[in-house]
Amino acid sequence: MKQKRLVIAIDGYSSCGKSTMAKALAKELNYTFIDSGAMYRGVALFALENGMILNGNPDKESIIDSLDEITLTFETIEGKQHLMLNSRDVENEIRTPAVAEVVSEIASISEVRQKLVREQRKMGDLGGIVMDGRDIGSVVFPNADLKFFVTAKPEIRAQRRFLELENKGIQTNLKEVLHNLETRDRLDSSRSDSPLIRTKDAILIDTSFLTPHQQLNKVLEFVHQNATIDN
Ligand code: DC
Repeated sequence: MKQKRLVIAIDGYSSCGKSTMAKALAKELNYTFIDSGAMYRGVALFALENGMILNGNPDKESIIDSLDEITLTFETIEGKQHLMLNSRDVENEIRTPAVAEVVSEIASISEVRQKLVREQRKMGDLGGIVMDGRDIGSVVFPNADLKFFVTAKPEIRAQRRFLELENKGIQTNLKEVLHNLETRDRLDSSRSDSPLIRTKDAILIDTSFLTPHQQLNKVLEFVHQNATIDN
């Protein structure tokens, strides 16, 4: 008898701590962690680098026509997942404000979503995966064994994101970060294809006043309640 390897979906707003939580959970369970947002950021970076963003607006037709030229994979480098865009490590480039500015628009293109959802489902085929994003519990893995929906107060999220950028040496200010988060929340929740929603079966976790350690313990309680035995 061995423990069933679960599919765990973690959705929520930008910078609410879901990636930190997903990463820690995957490490604890010895599962694969997939940051699906990184894949949308990878497409956004490709579009930026190939002149497909005109005055801040994505040239949707060119992006759709180029989708076959985009290969996104993950590689573990020094214990950390790095996104590879056509075999090039772009983990740092995809986290810049320039990418953050355009990524929600890119993520609203249905053809982009179809391609990435197909690849994400393949990654979850064997179970033993924690994937975080916006549509993981609703679209990518509607039958996930466990679903979490993560929230936190906007001001707290902006503060966390600001510190994260500052630590990376990226110049910005708190007001700008909060504005970008709120704009992205609005776009992510209101787009017609796979908007960010909390499914009925998703467990709500508010991280506003929880340390990363407390967040992990909270989700682990649910995992242990749900981990059934596979014969
Ligand atoms: O989680 P993040 O901030 O890295 O996500 C980047 C963008 O991609 C964000 O605007 C939401 C979008 N996204 C999405 O639409 N679906 C996902 N599964 C993951 C991210």
